[in-house]
Amino acid sequence: MITLERMRWWHVAELMPIERAVFQPEPWSERLFWSELGQLDTRHYVVALSDGSVVGYAGLCDYPDEAFVQTIAVAPAAQGQGLGARLLADLLQEAARRRQRTVSLEVRADNAAAQLLYAAHGFTRTGVRRGYYPGGVDALVLTRRG
Ligand SMILES: CC(C)(COP(=O)(O)OP(=O)(O)OC[C@H]1O[C@@H](n2cnc3c(N)ncnc32)[C@H](O)[C@@H]1OP(=O)(O)O)[C@@H](O)C(=O)NCCC(=O)NCCS
Repeated sequence: MITLERMRWWHVAELMPIERAVFQPEPWSERLFWSELGQLDTRHYVVALSDGSVVGYAGLCDYPDEAFVQTIAVAPAAQGQGLGARLLADLLQEAARRRQRTVSLEVRADNAAAQLLYAAHGFTRTGVRRGYYPGGVDALVLTRRG
């Protein structure tokens, strides 16, 4: 059984192999995760645990006018089983709890799987950042208005 719980500092080292596996060539550093976790007022981070092991994680930032999906990742071996959708639903629930009607995110233009996930949760394209990612890949800005 997979459970979601609040990300704590001791999960960070364990999630780094997933981070490095799925976010090449620019994975976040441990330091960046710790910085995010330190911002208690505005951040909401969760981990997905399977028998106590981290198999996915996601984070939301609560800005003054909108919430922003900072990251969402599922271990390669656990993908395609509904976990990404579960993590995203948790972030959207938290955004609603914080009374945020707008949730935004950036996704690589070549990341079809993630774009399908977001579309299924009501996100639509609201902008493009040309050449935003290494190698010149565009970032699509997607937004969901509740
Ligand atoms: C994107 C990601 C989080 C999705 O997680 P997941 O657990 O595999 O996704 P789910 O099993 O919950 O699938 C949810 C929906 O996403 C889409 N999807 C997921 N994987 C897909 C794939 N390989 N091909 C096409 N669509 C896919 C589908 O619409 C799917 O809905 P469906 O099963 O009803 O068709 C995961 O693939 C991942 O970690 N990717 C690498 C990191 C990443 O790209 N993060 C997003 C950065 S913006």
